[in-house]
Amino acid sequence: MWNFTYHNPTKIVFGKGTIAQLTDLVPKGRTVMMIYGGGSIKRNGVYDQVVDALSDHTVVEFGGVQPNPKYEKLMEAVEQVKAEDVGFMLGVGGGSVLDGTKFIAAAAVYEGEDPWDMVADDDVECTDALPIAGVITLPATGSEMNRNAVISRESTREKLPLKSDAIRPAFSILDPETTFSLPDRQTANGIVDTFVHVTEQYLTYPVNSPLQDRQAEAILKTVIEEAPKVFQSPRDYDVRANLMWCATQALNGLIGCGVPGDYATHRIGHELTAFFGIDHGRTLAIVHPAVLRHQRENKAEKLAQYGLRVWNLTGLTTEKTIDAAIEKTEAFFQSVGVDTRLSDYGVDLADCEPIPERFRERDNLGERENIGAKEVAEILALCE
Ligand code: NZQ
Ligand code: ZN
Repeated sequence: MWNFTYHNPTKIVFGKGTIAQLTDLVPKGRTVMMIYGGGSIKRNGVYDQVVDALSDHTVVEFGGVQPNPKYEKLMEAVEQVKAEDVGFMLGVGGGSVLDGTKFIAAAAVYEGEDPWDMVADDDVECTDALPIAGVITLPATGSEMNRNAVISRESTREKLPLKSDAIRPAFSILDPETTFSLPDRQTANGIVDTFVHVTEQYLTYPVNSPLQDRQAEAILKTVIEEAPKVFQSPRDYDVRANLMWCATQALNGLIGCGVPGDYATHRIGHELTAFFGIDHGRTLAIVHPAVLRHQRENKAEKLAQYGLRVWNLTGLTTEKTIDAAIEKTEAFFQSVGVDTRLSDYGVDLADCEPIPERFRERDNLGERENIGAKEVAEILALCE
């Protein structure tokens, strides 16, 4: 196992009716900015619960944060934060809202010229932000308990991650009942996102970390078990709760302690969103099987372990176990209604030509840093 430092200070408040606890969790005496998306929270009652809980606080609102939150829109909120002297940021919605909240919180106190530099320029660090909290209504990203935000810029068609301890939420409220209203498409996106967050930290090469391996396998097996149930019974509290906690555990840093990670699927997927507007979870379903096929030799030991322990593939040769494990993965994504090929989304391979170019100047991807522009092109060819 590698050396690591693990410090996750985000308080999680989980369960039915917990939004009411905002009354005590949100500090008084500072103006709170409540940030939300396109209106789902107004339709499912979450907005009213938050407003009720904060009736004794001074609250200003900023709505309209888009999926794959856009820098251009978020900068409008930054102006409002400064104008209204906001001192606490509360994101209420999915990962996009919370990521947007994180960016606004950092941009509002950024002293350089353009806060976008924190996202786009590796030499510019994000070191400070207003305090942040979340009420998460879509289990998928893990943003509620991590130090990441993914921000898109419309003018340049970029989608890039911002990472900093300064943007960790102080607390997040996870009430599974808020997810009853999710359309199947978003539930499915969240399932794929959760799954791939785990496999990106698990399907690499062995470093003798049996605990982290089994933690990862536990999340994968739980997601595989719960996924079919949620589409049959979308208002089953226990199923929603299990999926919600899996999503948080998948990307709160725990299973990644002391082990290699491979975020190639995410980084290539972000480009598919940036160029073609494909939902985040869907891009992963397209790219991940292709990454596994392309990197099967480097990942052989862990892929075989995954086939045996997660998919119960026994009695096969190692090579056949690996083939079947990758096929099972792709079939699982399809089983929740997520298509796994570029052509399913009306995208031709030729349309993807600019994508490998973007990786020419960046650090190589993959746990062995062996995925550069050429390999990205090969992986995209496997997604056709
Ligand atoms: O905008 P509203 O009206 O709220 O509707 C949203 C949106 O249309 C809707 N929704 C959310 N909760 C709902 C609901 N509809 C009904 N009932 C509810 N309870 O769902 C739509 C999608 O929301 P979005 O927040 O975009 O989805 P998700 O949570 O999947 O977030 C995706 C974004 O997170 C980034 C992705 O790249 C993408 O930009 N990620 C962030 C990560 C992180 N911070 O660590 C890691 C992830 O890998 C990911 O990259
Ligand atoms: Zn993701």
